[in-house]
Order: sequence, then C-alpha cells, then structure tokens
Amino acid sequence: MKSEMEQDILKVLVTEEEIQRRIAELGAELYDQFHDKNPLFLGVLKGSFVFMADLVRACQVKSDVEFIAVSSYQNATVSSGRVQITHDLQQDITGRNVVIVEDILDSGNTLAFLKDYFLTKGAASITIATLLDKPARRTKAITADYVGFVVPDEFVVGYGLDYCQRYRNVPYIGVLKPEVYANH
Ligand code: XMP
Ligand code: MG
Repeated sequence: MKSEMEQDILKVLVTEEEIQRRIAELGAELYDQFHDKNPLFLGVLKGSFVFMADLVRACQVKSDVEFIAVSSYQNATVSSGRVQITHDLQQDITGRNVVIVEDILDSGNTLAFLKDYFLTKGAASITIATLLDKPARRTKAITADYVGFVVPDEFVVGYGLDYCQRYRNVPYIGVLKPEVYANH
C-alpha cells in the first residue's frame, strides 16, 4: 500500500537502497580526508537534516555537528536568488575544517553565499558535501567536493527535500505529479 504522500509521486529518481549505498561510499571518502582533522559537519536546514543523520553515522570520525538555517525559496520552486539566514550558527567556527552538508546544489546561490559567510567567520577550510547536484541550473561558479547523485532539471522531493514543507519524510528522491502543483 502506498502512503497518501507517495500517491503524489510521479516517479522515483533515486531509491532508498541507492541512497544508502552511496552514503556509505561518501562516508568512507570523508573518513579518509578528515579522520585526523576534527571536522565540523555543518548542515543547511531544513533540507539537509535526513542526509546529515545518515552521513555522520556513515563517517565515524571525531567531529561535531552544527546547523544553519537559510531561506531563499519562500515556497516557490525556483530560487529567488536572495539568501537570508533565519537561524544563525550557535558556535565559533574559527579555525575549523567545515564540511557543509546540503541536500541539493541547484543555482548555487545558497552555497556560494554560505561558503563566503563561513570564510568570513574564520573557517580554516570549507568542503561541500551535497546529496544531489542539479548542474543544469547553475548560475554561480561553485562545485561540490562530494556529490551523492546528479539529478536532471526537475523539482525533486523526499529524503529531506520538500514542496511547501511536505514530503520531507518520503524515504527516497522523487518527482511530484503535475496536479500536485496545480491543486496547490
Ligand atoms: P540553490 O538554487 O541556492 O538552491 O543552489 C539550494 C536550495 O534550494 C532548495 N532546492 C530544492 N528543494 N527540490 C527541493 O525540495 C528541488 O528540486 C530543489 N532545488 C533547490 C534546497 O533547499 C537547497 O538547499
Ligand atoms: Mg536546503
């Protein structure tokens, strides 16, 4: 039986199994790079919370976890281009090796902004780990160091990603049926 939410999904782009297999690989690669560097895993809320939970457990390094919340979409499916911090860092990141944990790199506005912001806050290094990369829509010259999956130019939901705050708890990455947007 499909859940009520899953009935709104047109197609699955990345399955739960594929996500878990890939995160195990990313965790191992991050371990090799950071096992002696006390990294700070810094998640971008809200979308990254599911990825963060799985990624840090796949990477058994001495590290800590921090979050920042930004908003740029204001319930639209296309970025407004302006990035606002809605919940700021709660700790000093001076000298830290920061691993930004993001759900999706799309236009690049959010990560370009955050990379600069963390550098001005004194981070020693910035590494970007994103579950999804949508290169088709990039407007900022920014690339991720670790990418789970490259996705086509479609609005995706699930595994932390939302449409109007819904579908974050769908356990895979999917595309919504057109009528979901039409009926909204
Ligand atoms: P930018 O354009 O700044 O976008 O690289 C990054 C942020 O925008 C959100 N985003 C999406 N959210 N499905 C979503 O649910 C998408 O297809 C999508 N594309 C971008 C996301 O929160 C990301 O942090
Ligand atoms: Mg996000």
